[in-house]
Amino acid sequence: MIATRPLHRFFGAIVEGVDLTKRINDETFAQLRNALTEFSVLVFPGQDINDAEQIAFSQRFGPLETTKIGTRGTGSPLVILSNIGEDNRIVPFADRLNMVNRANMQWHADSSFKRIPAQTSILSAREVPVTGGNTEFVSMRAVYAELPEDLRQAAEDRVAIHDFAHSRDKVDPNLMTDSERATMPPVRQAMVLDQGHKLGRSLYIGSHVSHVEGMTKSESRKLIDRLLSFATKEQFIYCHTWCLHDLVIWDNRSVIHRAQPFVNHEERRRMVRTTIAGVTPTVK
Ligand code: OGA
Ligand code: MN
Repeated sequence: MIATRPLHRFFGAIVEGVDLTKRINDETFAQLRNALTEFSVLVFPGQDINDAEQIAFSQRFGPLETTKIGTRGTGSPLVILSNIGEDNRIVPFADRLNMVNRANMQWHADSSFKRIPAQTSILSAREVPVTGGNTEFVSMRAVYAELPEDLRQAAEDRVAIHDFAHSRDKVDPNLMTDSERATMPPVRQAMVLDQGHKLGRSLYIGSHVSHVEGMTKSESRKLIDRLLSFATKEQFIYCHTWCLHDLVIWDNRSVIHRAQPFVNHEERRRMVRTTIAGVTPTVK
């Protein structure tokens, strides 16, 4: 029997009493799934998990995404977020790895630039810095429920264009090669998601949004900026301070997240992510 302890007024829970490195039984897995639906973010302390064990656990949720080109772990089910090079040393400040980490500092939902965006992400802390390097989450369900009426109406039935190149270009226009751009054309996503349960709808926007369909670029920017600044008010944020061997699972269709900085030319940070593919598109 798992035990959940809420982390925040709106979402998030710590889960204890389960060892994710071993195969868990179907009943416990069903409890975890239900807890994820209810809390959107689950934190499991003390999971000293390796890559194979993380993949095996993740696959219980469904087929995994394969890591795209330009990210460490490409072609495998693993996304490696780290500032440690092949020689096992901290990479220089301007290294591409740190650029990728900087891109993650913008609020986003994983893979929202795919036609069928990711459902769930699983991130395990393999090496953590002493200070900084936290990850912040926002409950987009709570945000939607609290949106002022004019903003809710502005987002209702709207489609946003998500473009991976858009978020990368904000960090460095040279970050993406032409072949990477060609493999990731912009996609349409609903701005409000209804996952069909009593917990309510959620707002779906983030750093990959280049504009809103049917609006000019400047109208789009204004709306997205207003929505994002409302969404990222303190009251909606849970900040996760990582301990070594924490494993965190989140639902990309009800939360957005971002990485926080750390002294990346001095301290080591190595995180490993597996991502469960989405099943349904957000628009018809
Ligand atoms: C991710 C991500 C943030 C972090 O794993 O998808 O955005 O703090 N991580 O590493
Ligand atoms: Mn992410």
